[in-house]
Amino acid sequence: MIEDDGLIYPEVGSWAEEKYRLLSLYDELFSTGMKHKWDQRVYIDLYAGAGYGKIKGSKKILKGSPLLSLGVTHPFDKYIFCEKSPDLLAALTARVDRIAPQAQVAYVPGDCDSKIADICKEIPKGSPSNKVLSLCVVDPFDFGLKFETLKKLSVVYIDFVVLLAIGMDANRNYDHYVDGNSSKIDEALGNEEWRERWKAAGRRDFRRFLAQEFSMSMQSLGYLEQPLDRMKLVKSTEKNLSLYYIALFSRNKTAYKFWDEVLKYGTDQQSLFG
Ligand SMILES: C[S@@+](CC[C@H](N)C(=O)[O-])C[C@H]1O[C@@H](n2cnc3c(N)ncnc32)[C@H](O)[C@@H]1O
Repeated sequence: MIEDDGLIYPEVGSWAEEKYRLLSLYDELFSTGMKHKWDQRVYIDLYAGAGYGKIKGSKKILKGSPLLSLGVTHPFDKYIFCEKSPDLLAALTARVDRIAPQAQVAYVPGDCDSKIADICKEIPKGSPSNKVLSLCVVDPFDFGLKFETLKKLSVVYIDFVVLLAIGMDANRNYDHYVDGNSSKIDEALGNEEWRERWKAAGRRDFRRFLAQEFSMSMQSLGYLEQPLDRMKLVKSTEKNLSLYYIALFSRNKTAYKFWDEVLKYGTDQQSLFG
């Protein structure tokens, strides 16, 4: 049980527990598995949050993605946390200072899309004698991520764990996104041609379509194909509604071995760690 530390924490749905379980397991496998293969491992959180979240309607406090990444057995060599809300970032900074004072952390305040140059500057330069691998977690509230931002990051060795918050957003705002003049999905996918493909596909199951389209966009950057059955579909615990897919994107097969472990054991960590 995590005690209330008096700092702010946003409320999260109870399904967030599943997200955190998967993320922390992947952080653990990645940071340990890549330790001897790379000189530096960097963890980047584009939508970092406050470090803690409280489950709605309960007193249970959970660690958010940045604190989970700091808690791995073999910590990353550097952490980069971006958060738009100054209040949440202040709470995160205080928590990191208290919980992991030894960690090397760069904070980038503001919108990850407009601050992408600052984020990139914080990634240590790689060279043949200093091989740097980054893991970037992309966890927005809705389908508001921008493909262009991921593309800018993708010039270095970097894997992405992306929460495709499609169920909550795209289904609810379907008419606006598809038939209105919203550019939100164009920006998330990095193209406008998806509209034609959506029509050609017979306009069936928008959620699955968008997840497949996102995977295709990532493939255009050299990432391996991520089929739907290797994405984790997270549903709301109360109404059993599909909320989001969690997907890994890497250019290297090794990362997918870790991901398969996560998919296999993510619902019951005990079975992996004995
Ligand atoms: C779903 S929460 C993710 C929290 C965090 N990953 C966790 O596990 O606790 C999204 C967070 O992103 C922040 N945010 C929203 N838009 C942002 C943007 N464009 N750039 C950076 N942060 C943003 C919000 O303030 C919020 O804290």
